[in-house]
Amino acid sequence: MKKILFVASEANPYAGTGGLGDVIGSLPGALAAERSDLDVRVVIPMHVGKVSPEYRTAMKKICEFDVPLSWRTLYCGIYSLNANGVTWYFVDNEYYFNRTKLYGEYDDGERYAFFSKAVLEMLPHIDFVPDVLHANDWQSALTVIYLKKLYPQYDTKAIYTIHNIEYQGKYSFGILGDVFDLPNELASTVEYDGCVNLTKGAIVCADKVTTVSARYAEEIGTEFYSHGLHYIIWENRDKVCGIVNGIDLSLYDPEDPSLPAPFSVNDISGKATCKLEIQRRFGLPESETTPLVVMISRLATHKGFDLVKCILEEFLQEDVQVVLLGTGEKEYEEFFSWIANRYPSKASAMLAYNKGIAKLLYAGGDIFLMPSLSEPCGLAQMMASRYGTVPVVRETGGLADTIHPYNPTTGEGNGVNFVSYNAHHMLDALRRAVELYNKPEQWAKLRKNAMTYDFSWSKSAKMYLDMYNSLF
Ligand code: GLC
Repeated sequence: MKKILFVASEANPYAGTGGLGDVIGSLPGALAAERSDLDVRVVIPMHVGKVSPEYRTAMKKICEFDVPLSWRTLYCGIYSLNANGVTWYFVDNEYYFNRTKLYGEYDDGERYAFFSKAVLEMLPHIDFVPDVLHANDWQSALTVIYLKKLYPQYDTKAIYTIHNIEYQGKYSFGILGDVFDLPNELASTVEYDGCVNLTKGAIVCADKVTTVSARYAEEIGTEFYSHGLHYIIWENRDKVCGIVNGIDLSLYDPEDPSLPAPFSVNDISGKATCKLEIQRRFGLPESETTPLVVMISRLATHKGFDLVKCILEEFLQEDVQVVLLGTGEKEYEEFFSWIANRYPSKASAMLAYNKGIAKLLYAGGDIFLMPSLSEPCGLAQMMASRYGTVPVVRETGGLADTIHPYNPTTGEGNGVNFVSYNAHHMLDALRRAVELYNKPEQWAKLRKNAMTYDFSWSKSAKMYLDMYNSLF
């Protein structure tokens, strides 16, 4: 096993909208670093307008060919560049990928069917037959189905990783042949609950199915977390496993010179300067000793914002400050605007997606709140930890696997947890965190545990390699 091809709809730093982009941007390089004889390649769509000119000019067009998709014959160009020990391919077709959004277009099914077909059609043109094809989320689920059902010439193993089971790629049967180019004999492979379900099809066809934490791998076998797919997960449980994500430590580094004052676990003093900078920018009173709680998130219900909405006013009666960065559902945007107006000296919100401000908040905060209803892995809790901003999380999915409750007696643990999805349990966890904050020795220990916890890819990269090897 030497040749691995990752397939995904996004990857940082080329085009990314969330955690999937972070993972596809960093895991392949971590695998290449782990074993020098591996040939690791990644293919994503060329999201025109998202890829910055710096990368556009670094790319070379290496081939073009026609892609058959049902009755269509479609142009496809392949651009390529090398970075971090990995070969990157970008599938070009401006009709499908010169759009304002990566997802949420009326023809997403057709766009990603084209992409998936193009990936298989590309192989002879780049003269590369992978030993392992590793697809991620529903947008590339069809590559697994096509590979196993329509390209028998390849003896390639297929891995399908679920980053979030909520998004399954569900469509009506009318477009099975017309858009997905699947013959009627394959209807039962992709059928679930009366729909074409691309995630279900990939789970059935893949040699292994992984998800992004061990806890989430268990959770998706239950009705509460599975968004309807628990029967399929359960039937295929022998091939399902969870491998927790890591983060690229060089991108989330408290010694980053672009921070107002870089710091490290051995010299934490710069963190206070970062905190003052947040208070200035967010219009809050400057105070080194008031605990500063930060949240950075899409404002969606499953991120736990209904809990926050329920208890935030009660929490703000205490000597605390709360800062939010994020955009999303109107209900929560309005709530945070209202709170910021109502408690101007205690709460502030920036309704935006801003990577620079996010890093400042990770760096200068004291407590990082992430109370998700479900969280396949979650990356923000790891990013915050790197800067000694102590996570308060609900014990679910990757949050449960990466954040372990601090025990003041033993001095072990890297965060504060609560278990049931209950607003007052969350409030209680926040209060426990504030109480620890007010005991400087305990807090220093907890903060150090957070900063020194190993969130690198190294352990997980080895687990992926073992999993790939187990298939040969
Ligand atoms: C999805 C999940 C998130 C995970 C990320 C990367 O965005 O919601 O929990 O960290 O994928 O795997």
